[in-house]
Amino acid sequence: MTYLETAAQFYSEVAQTPEVGLCCVQSTPLQLPGLKIPLVMQEMNYGCGTTVHTTELANQPTVLYVGVGGGLEALQFAYFSRRPGAVIAVEPVEAMREAARRNLEIAAQENPWFDTSFVEIRSGDAFNLPVADASVDVVAQNCLFNIFEPADLTRALKAAYRVLKPGGRLQMSDPIATSPIPPHLQQDEQLRAMCLSGALTYQEYTELIINAGFGQIEIRARRPYRLLDKQTYNLQKNLLLESLDSVAFKVQIPEDGACIFTGKTAIYAGTETFFDDAAGHILQRGIPAAVCDKTAAKLASLKPTEIMVTDSTWHYDGGGCC
Ligand SMILES: C[S@@+](CC[C@H](N)C(=O)[O-])C[C@H]1O[C@@H](n2cnc3c(N)ncnc32)[C@H](O)[C@@H]1O
Repeated sequence: MTYLETAAQFYSEVAQTPEVGLCCVQSTPLQLPGLKIPLVMQEMNYGCGTTVHTTELANQPTVLYVGVGGGLEALQFAYFSRRPGAVIAVEPVEAMREAARRNLEIAAQENPWFDTSFVEIRSGDAFNLPVADASVDVVAQNCLFNIFEPADLTRALKAAYRVLKPGGRLQMSDPIATSPIPPHLQQDEQLRAMCLSGALTYQEYTELIINAGFGQIEIRARRPYRLLDKQTYNLQKNLLLESLDSVAFKVQIPEDGACIFTGKTAIYAGTETFFDDAAGHILQRGIPAAVCDKTAAKLASLKPTEIMVTDSTWHYDGGGCC
């Protein structure tokens, strides 16, 4: 069996017998007015964060959801796109497709606004997405891509890039490792399937997203996910896994490299009323301006005594009020 087949077998089992708390972090699933999430969907929440960024789901976007699980996020996306086929959920495991269908039928009984036709479940996998090039606004996956070995992760990222419209968004939640996971754990197919040993470091993960062609990444959340303790996992020291929610944009990679927003700001503290770096960034004295990590580093080295760069908040959505 390949590791992908091991993963498929594992998810076939947890489709038939829900494993509560398998991947999720301890937080309640996103609640929305008028949305009732069936209990069985909550029990089958096998995601490690959220990919449903509510403020950006206006205009009924077409969403391709990869790895449907129990259907919780497919339902949440359908909340915003209430039309037949708006959410296309791709899933290779037959038992999981069946479970998601059953769960969505329960959701239709519990939510007057929801019709099961809003979510179309298709057989397929992350590497061969059964939709046309440049045809969807959003591709989402939660706690799936971390299972893939790097070469397969690259294939999955390129597949997502292919199907997104220009400007479209890849919305992901995955565990990342705070230090490299040693080979004996990476090779453990069962742990990998359980989202415990395939995680890359933040650096490796973001590099692969950029290598697939995405020109901008925004980090929406970063929080502790699981601890691989040294006794159980035969490690020299405990290894913390974090869960990372991100949105990657299908936009051109700038000549000086992709932009990754992690919540840093740059603040001008010089004697003029503003500072203009002549590269598109104007900083008003004393007022924080959101900048990507690349620009933050450039500004800090340009004017080390006059520009303060604040730390990453790991929570950036571009929002502001002025
Ligand atoms: C960790 S679960 C996450 C499920 C769901 N995203 C959630 O948040 O509850 C991974 C899902 O991906 C599916 N899956 C496994 N291998 C896959 C592949 N190669 N391509 C697409 N989906 C896959 C599994 O069957 C399962 O439904």
